[in-house]
Amino acid sequence: MTTARDLSPLQPDADWWRQAAVYQIYPRSFADGNGDGIGDLRGIISRVPYLEQLAIGAVWLSPFYPSALADGGYDVDDYRDVDPKIGTLEEFDEMVAALHGAGIRLIVDVVPNHSSDRHVWFQEALASPKGSNARARYIFRDGRGENGELPPADWTSIFGGPAWTRVPDGQWYLHSFATEQPDFNWKHPEVHEDFLRTLAFWSDRGVDGFRIDVAHGLSKDLDEVLPSKAELQAMPKDGTHPLWDRDDVHEIYAEWRQLFNQYDPPRIAVAEAWVETPERRARYASPEGLGQAFNFDLMEADFEASHFRDIVTDNLAQSAVTGSSTTWVFSNHDGVRHATRYGLAPRAGRPVKQGAAWVLAGGPEDQIDRELGLRRARAATLFELALPGSAYLYQGEELGLHEVAEIPDAQRQDPAFWRTTADDRGFDGLGRDGCRVPLPWTREGESFGFGDGGAHLPQPAWFADVAVEVQDGVAGSTLEMYREALRLRAQLQGAETLQWDERLCTGDVLAFERPGGWLNVTNFGADAVALPTGDVLLASAELGAATDGAPTLPGATTVWLRRTS
Ligand code: NOJ
Repeated sequence: MTTARDLSPLQPDADWWRQAAVYQIYPRSFADGNGDGIGDLRGIISRVPYLEQLAIGAVWLSPFYPSALADGGYDVDDYRDVDPKIGTLEEFDEMVAALHGAGIRLIVDVVPNHSSDRHVWFQEALASPKGSNARARYIFRDGRGENGELPPADWTSIFGGPAWTRVPDGQWYLHSFATEQPDFNWKHPEVHEDFLRTLAFWSDRGVDGFRIDVAHGLSKDLDEVLPSKAELQAMPKDGTHPLWDRDDVHEIYAEWRQLFNQYDPPRIAVAEAWVETPERRARYASPEGLGQAFNFDLMEADFEASHFRDIVTDNLAQSAVTGSSTTWVFSNHDGVRHATRYGLAPRAGRPVKQGAAWVLAGGPEDQIDRELGLRRARAATLFELALPGSAYLYQGEELGLHEVAEIPDAQRQDPAFWRTTADDRGFDGLGRDGCRVPLPWTREGESFGFGDGGAHLPQPAWFADVAVEVQDGVAGSTLEMYREALRLRAQLQGAETLQWDERLCTGDVLAFERPGGWLNVTNFGADAVALPTGDVLLASAELGAATDGAPTLPGATTVWLRRTS
């Protein structure tokens, strides 16, 4: 039995983020307090005791700003307000106080690459003539062709379909994502000023940090004559690419750092930056810049010992260079949940499904080996939580949730689903709605306890078996495993180092020790191996016994031990 750590009041600590367990709330799908089918701040406030019991260090809240939800809230109408569907600024303050009172910090999402097309500046741009200051805050260009009827370039958006859209007076604007998400022009000083205002606005309201959406996209260098899509693709992403991961993007983050450091403790930031190499990622994690960057390597890895080991080794080496702590992620609102990924046939590299497996719209859930997937996910999670650095967890993974594959097309919301065809669709073939289905809190009842007004995405019948209520207090349930692991982690987490135990690392087994004799052993294979000696602290599945009675570590299982000698 372990004792809960003292969570209240919030301890002043400028380094709180370095090894925090951060729980991502996708607000529309977490808990619905007002019964309109959409999760909200009232719902989050009502679940603070649940978060407290989970023993997380911080919440990362995905966008909650006014939005038409063309991209689940990543299309922001107003950066300094709360969407009325989600709550009010007063409720936001109440939520911050409730979280802080429970010893939980708050990171909010900031979306600086693009606004929504309903943002007052974009509306002003549409109402203003070519060449106006209002247009210069975004990226407008004349079209090609005799009458400008062709887009300025043949680029495709990240969600598929064209990246340029024409406005009534004939000009075109750039949107790297959906049509409703016009890209800002970060060469315009007012864009800089406005984001500094936004960051100060939320910092003043007690927000502890920021997750920076598309951090690698803000700076763009576009001549009058634009390169073609093929030319763009051929250009190296070495800091000089016209669109992505430009060296000068860090000038923006240096400005932000000055603002962050005016607060006590300094506000933190974590970059979502999809870049070519760990070295380039390190720039976003610089203490002169955002300070931390997501490392998505584990989201893209098969459940395989050598692959995991390489990823851990590379990323720890990288964080030693930057001085930042590394981040670990298995699931978030953009990817197939890890219980499901691990229940599908192994794939090399990215878990993007092509062809037959898993991509068919409306199915095929029967291709998922749910049991194996969950077993591996639990083992992977304990492995992650024993690593130095911060762990970013996604709502619902503590229930062992699988991806919901069977959402009728007509009910899908993800623009990435609608802008592509099954063949060229990214985000694992079905778009990203399957990991965004409202959480099941109760076994029965309206929307499994999510709220009184249904759920904005359809919940499957199997949610009844995995709801919070079903797992609460049940020894061995995934929820109880997460609770225990997070409580233990908070106590055991010491210096940000690990030592591989080469004697135990054999083939399918990875073992590493943290300071204080905390030993993590993960068996990635199918066959049981001998259990190393030590006091068992926690295991992701029941331990076994050999014919001679000696304890074993079964396949797809992680155990935490305290070394006895
Ligand atoms: C990354 C976010 O995580 C994703 O959900 C969003 O669609 C894009 N950025 C565009 O904002």
